[in-house]
Amino acid sequence: MQTLTFFNHAGGAGKSSLALNAGYGLTLMGYRVLLIDLDPQANLTSWLGIAAAEDDQTAFAVAVNSEARLPVPQRAYGMDIVPSNLHMALSEGQMMSQEGATLNLRFALKDVQDRYDIVLIDSPPSLGKLAVLAALAADQLIVPVPTRAKGLNGLPGVLSALQTYRRLRPELNVGLFVATLYDGRTSHDREVLEVLRAQLQPLSAPLNYRPAVWNDSAGAGEPVLSFAPNSAAAQEVQQLCDQLAEIAGLSAVTRHG
Ligand SMILES: Nc1ncnc2c1ncn2[C@@H]1O[C@H](COP(=O)(O)OP(=O)(O)OP(=O)(O)O)[C@@H](O)[C@H]1O
Ligand SMILES: [Mg+2]
Repeated sequence: MQTLTFFNHAGGAGKSSLALNAGYGLTLMGYRVLLIDLDPQANLTSWLGIAAAEDDQTAFAVAVNSEARLPVPQRAYGMDIVPSNLHMALSEGQMMSQEGATLNLRFALKDVQDRYDIVLIDSPPSLGKLAVLAALAADQLIVPVPTRAKGLNGLPGVLSALQTYRRLRPELNVGLFVATLYDGRTSHDREVLEVLRAQLQPLSAPLNYRPAVWNDSAGAGEPVLSFAPNSAAAQEVQQLCDQLAEIAGLSAVTRHG
């Protein structure tokens, strides 16, 4: 089992969209996928039609109690999901007073390591305790970066957070930077993509800015590969899933689909 955390403290980078769509793509490829929503905004949860998660269905207990186990997951689109809700935000205060709490999810995941091929964690747009919990649970971080000035400006924060996390997890690395929201018609986006290519390794092919498919599929509560399977956006999602499967070493894993 490999755990990948979608990580960027900047808001709107594409963390939740990618977690959901990569999760579904990897499910279609035959892998056993667990999604964990650690963002109190709970976008991933609501996009999957899980409206109001109860506190005992979320990762709250795991965040605040080193003895707690992961809750029984919900099911959506062939994936298991541990949903989130707004109360998850309160876990941060309780984690503050417990040394080592930010490693709780990493330990809790050991319980389910035979049940899944891949765990995808959606982290909140912050550098608070939940974001640290999400990052420290990962084998590798996946960092979506919008091909905008805002995306570039956020990078030093991501990299300095990673340096801090390495004090507890020296081997933690970025498995893939994912260029998102790319509008190749603008010279601005083309220039930013060049800068990303020069600075970031490994960097995915850009996911193009396609609001019709991405926003409408999220609004419909469906992954892109289900909502518009023949679209150019779907092809890009599939390419990303292939890359994630490779990074996670899944080619050696027997597919269950
Ligand atoms: N390739 C794309 N083209 C157009 N819109 C996109 C694309 N990818 C994502 N979006 C949209 O961009 C918005 C932000 O994406 P998303 O919510 O996944 O980012 P996030 O990093 O999870 O945000 P937050 O930090 O608030 O949790 C969403 O409305 C999503 O539908
Ligand atoms: Mg999000």
